[in-house]
Amino acid sequence: MAGSFHGLTVFNNNVHAQNSDSLSQADIAEPLFDIEKETYIGTILQNAANPTFRFDPRKGKSPSAFFAEVDPTPSAPGINEMVKPPTFPNVSPVAPDGLIVSSPGFHFNEQNNAMSAFQNALVPPKPNITISNSETDDGYNVFSKAGCIKCHAGSYFTNHQIIPADKIGTEPSRAKALAKTAKIFAEPLLYSPTENVPIRKNARVLKIPLNNIDEQQLRLGFAHDGKGGYKTPSLIGLYWQAPYLHDGGVAVGYEHNYGLTGTLLKGKPVDPYRSIIALVDRKERQKVIKANASLHSVHITGDGHSFWVDQESGFTKKEQIALAKYLLSLNKGRTEQQ
Ligand code: HEC
Repeated sequence: MAGSFHGLTVFNNNVHAQNSDSLSQADIAEPLFDIEKETYIGTILQNAANPTFRFDPRKGKSPSAFFAEVDPTPSAPGINEMVKPPTFPNVSPVAPDGLIVSSPGFHFNEQNNAMSAFQNALVPPKPNITISNSETDDGYNVFSKAGCIKCHAGSYFTNHQIIPADKIGTEPSRAKALAKTAKIFAEPLLYSPTENVPIRKNARVLKIPLNNIDEQQLRLGFAHDGKGGYKTPSLIGLYWQAPYLHDGGVAVGYEHNYGLTGTLLKGKPVDPYRSIIALVDRKERQKVIKANASLHSVHITGDGHSFWVDQESGFTKKEQIALAKYLLSLNKGRTEQQ
């Protein structure tokens, strides 16, 4: 939510910095993972796919000394082209991994911002489903009556709120991912987007305003309450997103095959229509959760988000189908549709 493009830039940067280059986390491996720095680097590099980067403990060098010799980006932690923001090695709401991906010759954060602008221009392809105007009205009425609209609100079917993990009830482990950042959390300071990379001495530092973000939401996003939560996703392009929920657990195939074990893990496609039905029908969902049993240890269940549109909650089969078709037909914002 913080910084340019309502947080999309922070998100893009996080994926490229933290998730694609674990070496960049070496300086905060101790507070975040309880792993001492040398052990952390050695563990990552001992099986490096590229032999140039493969660490051999028998050669008598420390992992960091070995890495310094082969590091393609000596001025930045890790391997990617990155800049240490003023708060490094601490993390912040605008640099949850402590670093900003930026290549020499570009402005600071320019590539991440360009990626955000590009992503904001993307529209999902048309879903393979035809739905009449009256079906759209019927589906929308069920959506509204069932209370989905409380969270999946507004033009883009999201209230942009993070819902506490214990309230939404889906698999809770992912929500805690950033909890340990509480120990090394700093103010949101970044270099000005007008600064060139590499960053000069005395470069201009900006404090990124957070005053439009609810403090409780910030705590939930970073799990600084110890539990965290999940943001209400937009429902636009839902047809292309199955399997559903953040753990991808709500999966039903075209042959009444259930769960990820019955579908993707067998190389069989997931049916968006049957999967949406399983999202809102508790009997169908039970079959999904049961089929996923062997995956519960890797935190995939398909459980939670118990907002039912089934007989037990007073809806007819016809209403359930109308809702499913309506949801799968969404490929534009609501105001654009009218
Ligand atoms: C209290 C707020 C809330 C209500 C009410 C709610 N949702 Fe959600 N919805 C969420 C959140 C939060 C998630 C993400 C949960 C996760 O992935 O763990 C979500 C996820 C989803 C997804 C999965 C999207 C995807 O790409 O995987 C669908 C579909 C969905 N909701 C539809 C509905 C429908 C239909 C209803 C009403 C029957 C409904 N929601 C009611 C908050 C809500």
